[in-house]
Amino acid sequence: MRNFTEQSITEAALERFGTDCDPRLREVMTSFIRHLHDFVRETRITPDEWLKGIQFLTECGEFCDDKRQEFILLSDTLGVSMLVDAIENPGGPGITESTVLGPFFRENPPIVANGGDLAPGIAGKRVDIDCRVSSEDGAPIAGAQIDCWQSSPDGFYDSQMGDGEAHNLRGRLKSEKDGRFWFNTTLPASYPIPDDGPVGNLMRAMGRHCMRPGHLHFWVQAPGHRQVITPLFVRGDKYLESDVVFGVKDTLIVDFGTQQGPRQRVRYDFRLKKAA
Ligand code: BEZ
Ligand code: FE
Repeated sequence: MRNFTEQSITEAALERFGTDCDPRLREVMTSFIRHLHDFVRETRITPDEWLKGIQFLTECGEFCDDKRQEFILLSDTLGVSMLVDAIENPGGPGITESTVLGPFFRENPPIVANGGDLAPGIAGKRVDIDCRVSSEDGAPIAGAQIDCWQSSPDGFYDSQMGDGEAHNLRGRLKSEKDGRFWFNTTLPASYPIPDDGPVGNLMRAMGRHCMRPGHLHFWVQAPGHRQVITPLFVRGDKYLESDVVFGVKDTLIVDFGTQQGPRQRVRYDFRLKKAA
């Protein structure tokens, strides 16, 4: 086949699969090619614009290393990560909703005993976090592993402080017999996603800001249950309505600072779906 037209080239590209192509790859690539061709036809992309797009993706690749993943950031800021998560984790009545992991999770965080301090030496308003982990039927889950991580009151994660090696503002806890786990920490602040690369430039070119509302991340894992990765957001934060990665859900917004006095208390119950 040759002499393709603006219309016929799509079907031609779709007919090029070999018989030994994996069926799922065929399904995904068929849809991708169709949508990509429709996108080019709809926007009447010029060769200069197409090249600019390719240069943008090249720059994203060049920005990636073992600490920086610009393509995930791109997916996050275009709402695709949350869309994929919504399909994978549809939740259900009473099940804790999930959102994106983000780039600041680190392996092997410090072990924090219940009642311990997640943010030693970090100044700022103190918060007592008091949570429970239970199964979808309400039964408490003992021995769940909970990783927590957050920004400082200035809006920085530990990996953005000093040489980036020290661990702080994060820890791994275990739930007790009654499903409870608790610790104290500082109030997390809103902060910009890493915005010194091509994704930050794209956001600014689109007239968007790069901010996430203040939040405290949790990754809760328990045998026999689906894990949940989710943050709790600070009620009243000015970026709740315009989170750059579209991660805010009403059920995840909690009061971090409405009590009188220097210490604040946050109560939250994580409810996990049983594994199928
Ligand atoms: C975060 O919450 O840590 C985060 C999530 C997605 C992109 C950037 C940061
Ligand atoms: Fe975060």
